[in-house]
Amino acid sequence: MTRNSAAGLVVAQATENVESAVSTPEFAASGTGIGALVYFSSASENTARFVAGCRFQDQGINVYRVPLKASEPALNVREPYVIMVPTYGGGVIKKAVPIQVKRFLNDPENRAWIRGVIASGNTNFGEAYCAAGDIISAKCHVPFLYKFELMGTPEDTAAVKNGLVKFFTAE
Ligand SMILES: Cc1cc2nc3c(=O)[nH]c(=O)nc-3n(C[C@H](O)[C@H](O)[C@H](O)COP(=O)(O)O)c2cc1C
Repeated sequence: MTRNSAAGLVVAQATENVESAVSTPEFAASGTGIGALVYFSSASENTARFVAGCRFQDQGINVYRVPLKASEPALNVREPYVIMVPTYGGGVIKKAVPIQVKRFLNDPENRAWIRGVIASGNTNFGEAYCAAGDIISAKCHVPFLYKFELMGTPEDTAAVKNGLVKFFTAE
C-alpha cells in the first residue's frame, strides 16, 4: 500500500515535469536569440500569415505558437516574449482574449516572461477593435506596442519587425 502510494507520487512528479518542459519554437531564431514572439491564430490563420511574412527568426527572434486545441501539448515559454493576439469577443470587450491565450497566460511560469502585447482585429467591431491588447496590457502590466487589422499591410509588417528588434535590443 505504502509502496504503491510512493510509486504513484513519483509518476505524478514525472508527468508534471514533462508537462512543464520548455517548448520548442515553431520558427527558431538563427544566430544569437534576442527575444521571442508568442502568437495565437485560429483556423482563419490571418495572424499566422502576418507572422510568416515578418520572418522574425531571421532577426534573432524565436517564434512560438499557442496551440489551437486543448488536446495539443501546452505551450511553455521561458524567455522574454511579446505576445501577438487576435481579438475574438464578437464586439464584447470583456470576452476579447481568446480562451487559448487566457490558458497560456494563466500559467504563472509563462506570464513571468511577457514583456509586451501586439493585438489584431477588425475595425468593423468599433469600440472593441483590438480590445484583446488593452486587456492583456492592463492585466499583465506590459505596454500595448502595436495594433493591426486582419493580416496587416506591408507597412505593418515592417513596423512590427523593426519595432520588435528595437524593443528587445533596448531592454
Ligand atoms: C467570431 C469572431 C469574433 C471577433 N471579434 C472581434 C472583436 O471583438 N474585435 C476585433 O477587433 N476583431 C474581432 N474579430 C476579428 C479577428 O480578430 C480578425 O479576423 C483576426 O484577423 C483573426 O485572426 P486569426 O485568423 O489569426 O485567428 C473577430 C473575428 C471573429 C471570427
